[in-house]
Amino acid sequence: MKPKIFIQNNKEAMARAIADGIVQLSIQAIINNRNVYLALSGGSTPRILFEMLAKEPYSGAIDWDYFHLFWGDERCVPADHADSNYGMTAASLLDHINIPSRNVHRLIGEADPESEATRYAREMKALIPLNENGLPRFDWVFLGMGSDGHTASLFPDTEELNNDEDLCIVARHPQSGQKRISFTLPLINAASRISFLVTGGAKHQIADTILRQREGYQQYPAAMVAPTEGQLEWYLDKDAANMLEES
Ligand code: 6PG
Repeated sequence: MKPKIFIQNNKEAMARAIADGIVQLSIQAIINNRNVYLALSGGSTPRILFEMLAKEPYSGAIDWDYFHLFWGDERCVPADHADSNYGMTAASLLDHINIPSRNVHRLIGEADPESEATRYAREMKALIPLNENGLPRFDWVFLGMGSDGHTASLFPDTEELNNDEDLCIVARHPQSGQKRISFTLPLINAASRISFLVTGGAKHQIADTILRQREGYQQYPAAMVAPTEGQLEWYLDKDAANMLEES
């Protein structure tokens, strides 16, 4: 599965490309009267996208009534904690758009992690159309990538990478020890569309290793993202792309 690679001049251009895609999803949702299921990524990269979606021309072009938002991972902290992915999304997007609260499916970071991972999996299976293997099929999963090649909260050399039983697992950040709840690879790979959003020069080496399939690339969790039926995309700014070319 060769991913489609999109290289933009800067983070703003990358955010605009994604925002335009969400507008297209909104148009299709209205035409087909069908809900859309998104899994948002965490960290700092998506903030620029969320802030763009919260403002014109995008805020008036997207009918959020059709969108159900989930998170591909969350830190095990309350929503008002500085590390909360939900908290960042609320501040940059949710507090500025008209989206029904029933459409916002927060991973409850302050809950017991194992119980919350189970609860979230149940919530997704109850709401999201399932694929032929009984896995919730997201319309679009957004992912970031760390400079160690982790994605969501799936970190290199961890047993969570081999979990093909669950939809969500509890992980620990290898440096900070912070507990996280994360989608598993089977859930991510069941999506119709998966897009990595990767910016900044600190990531160009790992992006190059993975996208050129250089020696040892398979060890990186981001390299294990391979949709079973859907489309895989990498959106990179010029700093992260370095010598890579669009494909
Ligand atoms: C998280 C993420 C994680 C993130 C990458 C990139 O909760 O931290 O989901 O996978 O996307 O670490 O983070 P930055 O966007 O901050 O570089």
